[in-house]
Order: sequence, then structure tokens, then C-alpha cells
Amino acid sequence: MDAKQLPLDRTSADALSAGGLRLGLVDGTDRDALAAWDEADYRGFHDRRPEPETIDEHVRHTAHRRIVGVWDDGIPEPNVPVATVSTWVGDLTVPGGATLPSWAVSSVTVAPTHRRRGVARAMLEGELRTAAAAGVPMASLTVSEATIYERYGFGPATQTADLTIDVRRAGWARTEASTGRLAFVSLQTVADTCRDVFERARLNTPGEMSMDDFIWGQRAGVLGDRDKKSASLRAVRYDDADGVPQGFVVYSLKADHSDFSNHTVDIRYLRAATDDAYAAIWRFLLKLDLVGTVKNEVATADEPVLWMIRDQRAATVVLRDHHWLRILDVKSALEARRYARPGWLTLRIEDRLGFASGTYRLDVRADGSAEVETTDAAPDLSMDVATLSALYLGGWRTSTLAHAGRVTELTEGAARRFDEAFRADEAPTLSFWY
Ligand SMILES: CC(C)(COP(=O)(O)OP(=O)(O)OC[C@H]1O[C@@H](n2cnc3c(N)ncnc32)[C@H](O)[C@@H]1OP(=O)(O)O)[C@@H](O)C(=O)NCCC(=O)NCCS
Repeated sequence: MDAKQLPLDRTSADALSAGGLRLGLVDGTDRDALAAWDEADYRGFHDRRPEPETIDEHVRHTAHRRIVGVWDDGIPEPNVPVATVSTWVGDLTVPGGATLPSWAVSSVTVAPTHRRRGVARAMLEGELRTAAAAGVPMASLTVSEATIYERYGFGPATQTADLTIDVRRAGWARTEASTGRLAFVSLQTVADTCRDVFERARLNTPGEMSMDDFIWGQRAGVLGDRDKKSASLRAVRYDDADGVPQGFVVYSLKADHSDFSNHTVDIRYLRAATDDAYAAIWRFLLKLDLVGTVKNEVATADEPVLWMIRDQRAATVVLRDHHWLRILDVKSALEARRYARPGWLTLRIEDRLGFASGTYRLDVRADGSAEVETTDAAPDLSMDVATLSALYLGGWRTSTLAHAGRVTELTEGAARRFDEAFRADEAPTLSFWY
């Protein structure tokens, strides 16, 4: 589906217009219009002004996105919008390996001069109505602050880990040797040859999203480098015994000027499609000469590397919410994933915006697939749509959310049955921010 072809939401356009503001779409191939929109987007995140090359990159690589702005014709430079959001339809991997179309939301900003008068609400609710009307069953985003999006029905479905390993203390416990080979490659070679590694890995990882060319180019270090850091990036690729790329890491090194043997490795992006590739890359990083610390700010909540080092206390793991989901169509979303246990459950879902409201009977068949219908039967569990969206990938225990008052158990044992069914084989993870 081409999100940028869909019309703007009338309700939001009217609400903004009543406040003297104009909701509109930017043609991503119109360089001047995009430059003004980029100016607002970068300013919104307290970034420095976008370089001309950055705008050129956006014209080349983000024109497929739906680029929405809000303009105030009464300000001195009215071509620069006072609010931005961009959206596109990505593929979210769900437990069982299927993918679900998801309305990805990014670049949400409102100018400080226009904040707290409902502009973000109008844009976001408008985008959700547009997505739902187009039949997209899910919306998703990563967030600057964890306090903004629950009011729109989003819940945190995955966590990310800020992982720091003290190399000298960590040691390396694995004895198996890798069967493949590591080699330095250029960033362009990563961009050209490693996308398939990501593709295979993401389809095995619930919570992952497809990347568009721009996000992929950023991860590989060839696009969108706001701070021009790419000159310090290095890349290593792991090929298996048949010569097929199975993993890669893009990283930079920071010197400790008082101790040359104490550099820090900062991982920009690490992805492996096999356990062998993963182990080989981590071994390489932890055995680099002149390095005291390895950091990965987008690690997963339960990295296997913690079980490959000798001393787990050499690792510091700081968890935070990461991929926020918002179910728009309960039947399509719940039927898309597989479940770990057959049986049935009746769920009452509350949704202030109405998309997901209702009582649903979930019937899980012996093969793990499910059928979902609305019902008049009494519910076993009741929760709001943000909570169901947070639980959707199987990353949290329902009992924890029941203890927190977020899930109401109306039939004894229903929270346990929900957990047994929703549990995912792999910890839900998203490997990037968008
Ligand atoms: C976050 C941001 C987009 C909000 O825009 P806004 O137009 O001021 O928001 P609205 O006036 O529509 O507020 C809607 C609701 O969200 C709340 N809200 C807005 N910003 C919030 C924040 N940063 N934290 C918590 N609540 C917030 C408002 O209080 C209001 O609450 P209500 O439900 O009681 O009405 C804007 O402050 C901004 O651009 N921040 C910097 C960039 C950023 O962090 N963007 C988010 C990227 S993920």
C-alpha cells in the first residue's frame, strides 16, 4: 500500500483549521518543500540544521514516505511547518514468523512556539484514523519519551538494552571455533552485501520491522550521518564456510587519551543470521587489542553474549522500552500470529479511540493458528488496547500486568492461560530506532 497517496484526515484538518493551522502533505521529491519540512523536523529534535547533502539523500531515499506537516500562515517564515510527522507501511514480524502490515510513525515534532495546544494529538489521531480506514491492522513507533503515546493506545511491546562490557573482566567462555571467516569490508560493501543477513534475521525475530532503503543505509553507515561520524566507522563481515555472508558489525572506536590501551568500541549495528556468526563477531570485538570497553546501545534484552563470557558481572545492562505497538484491528492482529498453546480465551478490550473496542473470543487451534470473533460472552480478561498491544508479542507476563492493575482477571487462571498461549519462542526485539 502507498501511504502517501491516502487523503488527509478531515476531522484533524478541521480541528487544526479552527486554530488557524493548516494540515498538509509534502511531496518528498520537491526539494524546497522537503528542506523546509526537514528544518522543522531537525529543530524539533534539537538537532543541528540539516546539511544540503542530507536533504539530497532524503529526496532520493524517503520520497516513498507519507510526509505530513502543519503550517501556520501567520508566522514570519510560513513555509517552515510548525509540526511534522512521517509515516509508511512496514512489515512487523509476529510470533510464528509471519509479518503484519504496520503503520510506522516517525518524525513527530511540534515547534516549541506551538506546543501543548493539541497539534500532536490532531496529527497522530488523524494518522491512526487514516491507517485504520486503509485496513492497516497495526501502528508502531519508537519514542523519545515514554510518556507521550499511551494516550493514543500504544504500549511498549519490546525492550532494548544499553549493553556495556568491561572487556578485561569479561573473558571468553566458549570453546567451539567458528567454521567461517571474518574480514574487514567497506561500509558500501556492508550496504551492498549484508541486507539479506538482516532480512533473514528479522523474519526470525518477533518485534522486528522491515527497513526502508534509508534506514538500512543509516545502519550500514552510508546514509544519514547527522554528525558526520561515518569517517570513524569500521565494518567486519562474517562469511560461513560456503562463503555466504551470515553476520556483520559496523562500529567505531573512541580513544581514552590518558590510556591508549583503553579504547571503547561503540557498536553502530550488529546483526547475525546464525549463532556461529554471532559468536564469531562477539569474540572478535571482545578480543580486540587496545580496547577496554565494548558498548552496544541497541542490544536486545537477553543477549546470548552474556552466556559466552566468563563473568556476567562484566556486563552492565540498562533496559528501556523500545518498540511501541498500537493494535488497530484486533481480529487481523491476533489471527496473524501463532500461539504456544491451544485453547480459548475471551478478552474485553477498551479503546478510547474506538478502533479496537469490543469483546473477542480467541480460539487457538492445535497447530497454533487462531480464529478471532467478537462475542457477547462474559470476558475472562479485561484490559485496554495499549496493554493488549504491549502483550501482543509475548514479551511480558500477563500476571505482572495484572499485579500492576493493567489487566483484570475475571475468570480465575485466565492470566496464566493467556501467558501460556502468547509466549514467544524468541524474545521480542527491534534492532533499530525509527
Ligand atoms: C511531544 C510533542 C510532539 C507534543 O506535541 P504537542 O502538540 O505539544 O502535544 P499536544 O498538545 O497535542 O498534547 C496532547 C497530550 O499529550 C501530552 N503531552 C504532550 N507532550 C508530552 C510530553 N513530552 N510528555 C508527556 N505528555 C505530553 C499533553 O499534555 C496532552 O495531554 P492530554 O492527553 O492530557 O491532553 C512535542 O512536545 C515535541 O515536539 N517534542 C520534542 C520532539 C519529540 O520528543 N517528539 C516525539 C518523538 S517520539
